[in-house]
Amino acid sequence: MYDETRPHRTAAVIPAAGRGTRLGPGAPKALRSLGGIPMLIHAVRAMARSRAVSLVVVVAPPDGAAEVKNLLDEHALPGGAAGGSWGRTDFLVVPGGETRQQSVRAGLDALPDGITSVLIHDAARPLVPVDTVDAVVEAVRAGAPAVVPAMPLADTVKEVEPGEPGEPEPVVATPERARLRAVQTPQGFDLATLVRAHERIAVNGEGATDDAGMVEKLGVPVVLVPGHEEAFKVTRPLDLILADAVLARRRATDVY
Ligand code: C5P
Repeated sequence: MYDETRPHRTAAVIPAAGRGTRLGPGAPKALRSLGGIPMLIHAVRAMARSRAVSLVVVVAPPDGAAEVKNLLDEHALPGGAAGGSWGRTDFLVVPGGETRQQSVRAGLDALPDGITSVLIHDAARPLVPVDTVDAVVEAVRAGAPAVVPAMPLADTVKEVEPGEPGEPEPVVATPERARLRAVQTPQGFDLATLVRAHERIAVNGEGATDDAGMVEKLGVPVVLVPGHEEAFKVTRPLDLILADAVLARRRATDVY
């Protein structure tokens, strides 16, 4: 299945096991439709569009792996050695965990031998352009152990002492906005480095929401590359409207 002569082999892991409650009631977020196609399928296509990505591992809701497999088959081409294939990209589906961190770990555990670098990409960022994916892969292949696409912030950010919902919250600090970045996915890693981070770093509570943060805790340098405004995370109902508008614009201008 894999070309042994190529020095770099990159897989993408897509954690898609979240319920997405901030989006309102309904199906798991990754299975909601955007322009008639489930968000997850957009995300898988976004990874498969990169020529560097030879395998996509989708981490499904624990009780939804069969449904996700069917969905991928529906949108796949026949053939392929692993779970299925979309042209030159194979895919696998594994069940996820209770936290994003556990889901990513399940995806890493499923990677076959021979993969040297990995992209971790949220299913909730279905519209990331292929140029952003390629920029991350290129930086990893050039030797950076951890690469994150990021954007400057429009809003000023306050650090607070979190209080009861609805109560005024005391401000603790106002970090200088020009030094802050909002990070996106796919985040790219030398595989051995990310596996080491998952083995050594345990994040309490809801677990790590950012894989690069775990690598930082190892003391390994993390670098940022320019992200893209279309790589936004679909979290709240308004984001669905924005995503539909981006898709409509792409269809009108025939970008994809
Ligand atoms: O909840 P949040 O928006 O941070 O989730 C980011 C990504 O992590 C989503 O694609 C979601 O499906 C995934 N996730 C997961 N397993 C969980 C929680 C979130 O795969 N237990």
